[in-house]
Amino acid sequence: MDKFVIEGGNKLNGRVKVSGAKNSALALMPAVLLTSGKSVFNNIPEVNDIFTMSKLLKHLGVVVDFNSHNLELDASNITSQDAPYEHVKKMRASVYVLGPLLARFGYAKVSLPGGCAWGPRPINLHLEAMKKLGAEVNLEEGYIVAKAKKLTGAQIHFDVSSVGATGNAMMAASLAKGNTLITNAAIEPEITLLAEYLKKCGVSIDGIGTKTIEIEGTENISGTDFNNISDRIEAGTLLIAGAITNSNIAIEFPHHEHLNSLIWKLEETGAKLLINNDIIEIDSTNNEIESIDVSTDVYPGFPTDLQAQWTALMSLSNSTARVTDSIYSDRFKHVPELVRLGANIEVIDNSAVIKGVKELKGAKVMSTDLRASASLVLGGLAAKGTTEVLRIYHLDRGYQRIEEKLSQLGARIDRVKTTEF
Ligand code: EPU
Repeated sequence: MDKFVIEGGNKLNGRVKVSGAKNSALALMPAVLLTSGKSVFNNIPEVNDIFTMSKLLKHLGVVVDFNSHNLELDASNITSQDAPYEHVKKMRASVYVLGPLLARFGYAKVSLPGGCAWGPRPINLHLEAMKKLGAEVNLEEGYIVAKAKKLTGAQIHFDVSSVGATGNAMMAASLAKGNTLITNAAIEPEITLLAEYLKKCGVSIDGIGTKTIEIEGTENISGTDFNNISDRIEAGTLLIAGAITNSNIAIEFPHHEHLNSLIWKLEETGAKLLINNDIIEIDSTNNEIESIDVSTDVYPGFPTDLQAQWTALMSLSNSTARVTDSIYSDRFKHVPELVRLGANIEVIDNSAVIKGVKELKGAKVMSTDLRASASLVLGGLAAKGTTEVLRIYHLDRGYQRIEEKLSQLGARIDRVKTTEF
């Protein structure tokens, strides 16, 4: 078990490169199950969720070769259509194998993911989409069992915009017979990228990047080489690290348009943001942190995956801010831990009401989930004295060696072995 020991209260400076995006990689990887060939993805981050998805794909018969951010996947010889609990319980994104397995083999058995650290995360929309495409879907002894002789194109409307359900529906529709129209589709960059991959593999897709996607199913899909995007949530976390420590830092991140909602909010706090080609610089050296409300929303709104980090930033703001999570109403497990660092936060319904304090003070805190951990690291960087962040295995699911990037920016942060749990 590892923990972070952070000596906080220092300014950061310098430049750091953002890793490849976890959530797009987690959508691209299962898509190879549709293909009877090889795909090579580059810019894949070395994080535990990618290793978990690799293990699941290997279990299904995919040949996996992961070498310095290049991930080669060969799905020519699939030997199982069964995604067992031991893999799925570790990571909800495992449910992405449902659509492609069902579409290619007419059968998929996928464990139900179970609870999530911060509250309910249903998968009803994934199942409804499979049924619309003609599958018979049953829940048996903790498993989703889906069958269909051949999926057939259909109209699928999502009442709630869902990244995962849109991805699953797009993958399944790619091998269905005929035309599928998906409305109120998610337009998160990770899903747009999945659509671009499917198109490059030979699937006919219209409306990529819009809320209405039309797919003409095909018989055979070939693999291809494909570039992953960089991680907008890691990029956003690093920018907030600059803001919370009143620093001037730069990140190498080629898709600033993926982060507009955060960039505009950071400007409202008084920070100066400068975008120059692939570099985003934040200068927060001369400003108090203004208290700025945010409400999370689907893309291009403010991402729920940056809500915890924003809550940490607002802890040191000059007045009161309300941070509302409209995607996950219970995603506030970081709040009691930030309070241990001296923050003044009250959770009311799906909002954190944050009264800014003059300073945070180092303490022992515990990670409860991926983004909560990131917010505690940010709190620790700003807090005076020593902060220990326990259970950072949550953080290792989605941030590639964040301590090295932060050290490169001058932070005093060490990964230390511990028996504390
Ligand atoms: N929803 C349903 N039914 C469903 C699916 C979703 O009601 O069948 C609801 C959810 O409860 C939620 C909303 O729809 O309120 C959106 O959930 P979505 O399906 O979009 O989330 P997801 O696909 O399970 C992905 C990311 C999450 C990120 C969310 C929202 C991946 C692997 N995960 O999850 O990322 O928070 O979209 O943007 O792409 C993270 O990286 O820390 C993370 C949790």
